[in-house]
Amino acid sequence: MGLYWAVARPLLSSLPPEAAHRLAQFILSLPLPWERIGGTPKDPALRTSLAGIELSNPVGLAAGFDKSCRHLDALGHLGFGYVIGGTITRDPRSGNAKPRIARYPGRASMTNAMGLPNPGAEAAARTLSRSPRSGPRLVSIADQGPDEVIATHALLEPHVDGVELNVSCPNVSWGRDRDNEAHLTLLMQELGARRTRPLFVKLPPFRSDVEREAVLALARIAQDGGADGLTCSNTRPVSDRRLSVGAGGLSGRELFPDTVRIVGDVRTAAGALPINACGGVFSAADALACLDAGATTVQVYTGLIEGGPRVVRDIVRGLSEAPSAARSLAPASSPGQDGTRPGRFRREFGAIASAGERRPGPTGGPGGRPTPGGP
Ligand SMILES: Cc1cc2nc3c(=O)[nH]c(=O)nc-3n(C[C@H](O)[C@H](O)[C@H](O)COP(=O)(O)O)c2cc1C
Repeated sequence: MGLYWAVARPLLSSLPPEAAHRLAQFILSLPLPWERIGGTPKDPALRTSLAGIELSNPVGLAAGFDKSCRHLDALGHLGFGYVIGGTITRDPRSGNAKPRIARYPGRASMTNAMGLPNPGAEAAARTLSRSPRSGPRLVSIADQGPDEVIATHALLEPHVDGVELNVSCPNVSWGRDRDNEAHLTLLMQELGARRTRPLFVKLPPFRSDVEREAVLALARIAQDGGADGLTCSNTRPVSDRRLSVGAGGLSGRELFPDTVRIVGDVRTAAGALPINACGGVFSAADALACLDAGATTVQVYTGLIEGGPRVVRDIVRGLSEAPSAARSLAPASSPGQDGTRPGRFRREFGAIASAGERRPGPTGGPGGRPTPGGP
């Protein structure tokens, strides 16, 4: 059992979720040997290209873990192929009132109603301009009004390899009452004319046919507007009375079946556009299922909280051990390649899953352990 499982996880589990996250952020600020702690192997066969961004592997850190963009360097050293800071808004935000995270011990899932607390675009730009780069980094920006989005994008884009436009946060009020399609069309027009680096659009998840049509319409608008890729998906809106605002976004294991299905549907609708699969990815088998459904990369958030810093190593190692005949990542150095490869990973899925990898059961977290914390 590693140090994380023996010491850090029980400690983090015993703290309220936001205190656990603050402690994790403090630890990330220490000059520790993050590369050694992560222990992620470097396998040239896993190198891939995300809309022209060269990645050492297809496993990314999802937006929202490092909201201030202060720890992207340390997080990158853990072994992620890329990391995403933010979501950043034009002005600083304190977010919703606490409590704003509810854990579901044993379900490897949680609900957050953070409401995008962040230091604002100017402070984030300063932080990014001063911090060393351990690898590709993106920043997530919020879909506020056009003037705010344009200003935030202009301040942050020079410091990152790409920008992810978050049009799917369930915890902010500006997304609720407007015409989302018209708004995204306008944002894509404005950003399309200005951007110089890859632009990704992060979509909400869908379950019903009505939601599916709404999300696929957004995907088409993003694609027609020149997006370089889509991220599928953000959290699923749910109610939880323990949260101060009574509702939030569900993340973690329970999203995973939806993630694979959504990636497949969006892949069919969006042709060759790169897709980043996000939602409940905890293991190499999960990552393989997403790649098999048509994803170019996967993104991890709750899996990092559940599994600790070695989760990226475990996923990358598992991908590395998948027989090379079945591996078909988008070739590195080939901008715009998406790596669509229906069915080619499927036969590896069972082999990886049965190779002693920790996989949460349908109702439990890895090893049935409780959920320790969240941001
Ligand atoms: C506490 C918390 C905060 C989050 N904040 C953001 C955010 O600021 N921007 C964003 O795009 N997604 C945010 N997310 C969503 C994640 O990026 C991801 O889409 C979602 O959690 C599903 O992935 P997972 O199951 O691996 O956690 C947040 C998730 C959590 C749990």
